[in-house]
Amino acid sequence: MPETTVPTHTLNDGTELPAIGFGTYPLRGAEGVDAVESAIRAGYRLIDTAVNYENEAEVGEAIRRSGVDRDELVVTSKLPGRHHGYDEALASIRGSLERLGLERLDLHLIHWPNPSVGRYREAWRALVTARDEGLVRSPGVSNFTEQHLEEVVADTGVTPVVNQVELHPTFPQVDMRAVHARMGVQTESWSPLGGRDALLGSDTVSRLAERHGVTAAQVVLRWHVQLGSVPLPKSATPERQRSNLDVFGFALDTDEMAALTVLAQPDGRLFGGDPRTHEEM
Ligand code: A2P
Repeated sequence: MPETTVPTHTLNDGTELPAIGFGTYPLRGAEGVDAVESAIRAGYRLIDTAVNYENEAEVGEAIRRSGVDRDELVVTSKLPGRHHGYDEALASIRGSLERLGLERLDLHLIHWPNPSVGRYREAWRALVTARDEGLVRSPGVSNFTEQHLEEVVADTGVTPVVNQVELHPTFPQVDMRAVHARMGVQTESWSPLGGRDALLGSDTVSRLAERHGVTAAQVVLRWHVQLGSVPLPKSATPERQRSNLDVFGFALDTDEMAALTVLAQPDGRLFGGDPRTHEEM
């Protein structure tokens, strides 16, 4: 049995999402299967993959090997930019299911809006159809701005359950978190450890880690949890997988939360992935 009990958020469609999940990029091949299997055995129940990570087959294999009941898992994948047309998106989802060896995705996200292509609204309509047909339990998005969110809601009346965005103390997404709160969209954090070396080695994080008797990564992941965002840390190391999950036994106070958020930089994105301009096919 996993040692850590992970609380859940209730999404806008009434389903539950664990408060922390496992990011699988760039885990591939036999080592990738081992890493995802060990994460599930450690207690992760939210598993985050994508067509473009090219590891859906590995994730499916790890799920089967783990012996954990499929219905206990929240399996997420993401639709790539090259599949944004309506028919292409539905075919893409069937491809993901085939590679994963599953009959249903729990969450499926539009990976990037790719506004220069301008077909994310069509892609969203396809995700809503996929939900209605039972291929996807809950449709969501990733890297959407307020404008993209408003457009897809206006088109369909369906609000994405999550928006997975780059979020870490150097880029805390204050505005998008407020948009999500207003619209009823759950925030998920990608690259939650934020280019880890500078952040995890910083004086602020080190001081808090020492004070609480935890690791630097646990401090940062706890900050996400207390912001109400769901972090998706990736680690290939079983020991780190376990400790990253174990962030529910201590709490940061208001001053400590503020000390971390203050590490924000005007453009604190790791690689300049601004969704208004970034293209990823
Ligand atoms: P590794 O797989 O060797 O553990 P992010 O999730 O923010 O994208 O960060 C992922 C990176 O952070 C990976 O390189 C991973 O390396 C590393 N990492 C994950 N957990 C920890 C940890 N607890 N301490 C230090 N580095 C970590």
